[in-house]
Amino acid sequence: MTAEPALDPETFRERALASLTTARDRTTLLTSCVEDPDLTAQHSPLMSPLVWDLAHIGNQEEQWLLRAVAGQEAMRPEIDSLYDAFEHPRAERPKLPLLPPAEARKYAAQVRGRVLDVLEGAAFQGGTRLTEAGFAFGMVAQHEQQHDETMLITHQLRKGPQALTAPDPEPVPLFTGPAEVLVPGGPFTMGTSTEPWSLDNERPAHRRDVAPFWIDTTPVTNGAYLAFIEDGGYDTERWWTPEGWAHIRRNSVRSPLFWRLDGGQWLRRRFGVTEVVPPEEPVLHVSWYEADAYARWAGRRLPTETEWEKAARFDPATGRSRRYPWGDADPGPEHANLGQRHLRPAPAGSYPAGESPLGVRQLIGDVWEWTASDFLPYPGFAAFPYKEYSEVFFGPEYKVLRGGSFAVDQVACRGTFRNWDYPIRRQIFSGFRTARSESV
Ligand code: AVJ
Ligand code: FE
Repeated sequence: MTAEPALDPETFRERALASLTTARDRTTLLTSCVEDPDLTAQHSPLMSPLVWDLAHIGNQEEQWLLRAVAGQEAMRPEIDSLYDAFEHPRAERPKLPLLPPAEARKYAAQVRGRVLDVLEGAAFQGGTRLTEAGFAFGMVAQHEQQHDETMLITHQLRKGPQALTAPDPEPVPLFTGPAEVLVPGGPFTMGTSTEPWSLDNERPAHRRDVAPFWIDTTPVTNGAYLAFIEDGGYDTERWWTPEGWAHIRRNSVRSPLFWRLDGGQWLRRRFGVTEVVPPEEPVLHVSWYEADAYARWAGRRLPTETEWEKAARFDPATGRSRRYPWGDADPGPEHANLGQRHLRPAPAGSYPAGESPLGVRQLIGDVWEWTASDFLPYPGFAAFPYKEYSEVFFGPEYKVLRGGSFAVDQVACRGTFRNWDYPIRRQIFSGFRTARSESV
């Protein structure tokens, strides 16, 4: 069973404040490192203008923390519909009468000012389900961080010179451990009923039986992926699902997004800088179709979501599922590449302190990992606090990604956290690792 994090209400209040502050610092950086025209422009039809994300962050915070938790009146009821993600698809958002950058900043700051007052007095114990352990504050911090990742994707798609910089991860010796590890078969606990800030789709905890399987020790690297390309992977129909094959033919997909071949050398564009593709780094910006085709070429398959979570959480010594591969402790910089501390994944084999008991590395951070699974509710799922977070997305058209990328903050990343997207998507910070069933 999952450990009950024994924390008192004041600890949660401090965590809520710290998480909201960290998120806002990041939002501020992502919306101040370019000039205003770059905030209102649409850099890709897949993305909102950055200034939409900014006011949407403030609007969601107002709706949940000022209206739902504190019972306050709407500050600007006329703007709600502009920032409702379901009313306007991303491609249409630049044409909306959005708040200009200065007004969007002011609105988000005003909301935050009032939220800090609410946070001080909110009952974190014995109140409502929304305020218990500060859930709504944690949810809003996770929401802002998810948009900070979305905004970083927009920055990656933006043409033009570099606007963001960060130190590279520590260099590490080439990883020489085993390529795969065996995860024993048997039941384990998937999901959580106790993690205080877990979102509805992670709940409830339930038992699942898993057949023994092998899983890659590290994410698939650029070097390994290059071997697939050089072996004609993109020209060989049998590696692809029919949908995947049709998609790559129609769109002339021949390499990960942002890569290009230059005089026999693969280059990539990363936040405004062109560089040689580093062979030891986990591959990034691949679709589910590409991940699935690579796995078939390698004589393997993608892990199911259940297998991924067992590899990440199951402790064979105790039989217990833990919060993270390394245990129940919150992530530190020694465990994982998170929080936009670096603007790239760390080389495969990094973060030995973050490995699972079986020795699987980099399950948390670096790259979101595609799984074989559709995004479906767990048995006993109940939408909370709103259907539009998860429930409306359940179904076969979305595939699950696990583990978080370098761009996600620790508040929105844990062994149970679930992300999802269409199998064609690759502007996201997506990679993968492969698995195979244990053969008898
Ligand atoms: C969970 C990343 C798929 O960005 O669409 C943000 C997160 N939900 N605002 C998304 C989210 C509402 C969501 N993903
Ligand atoms: Fe949102």
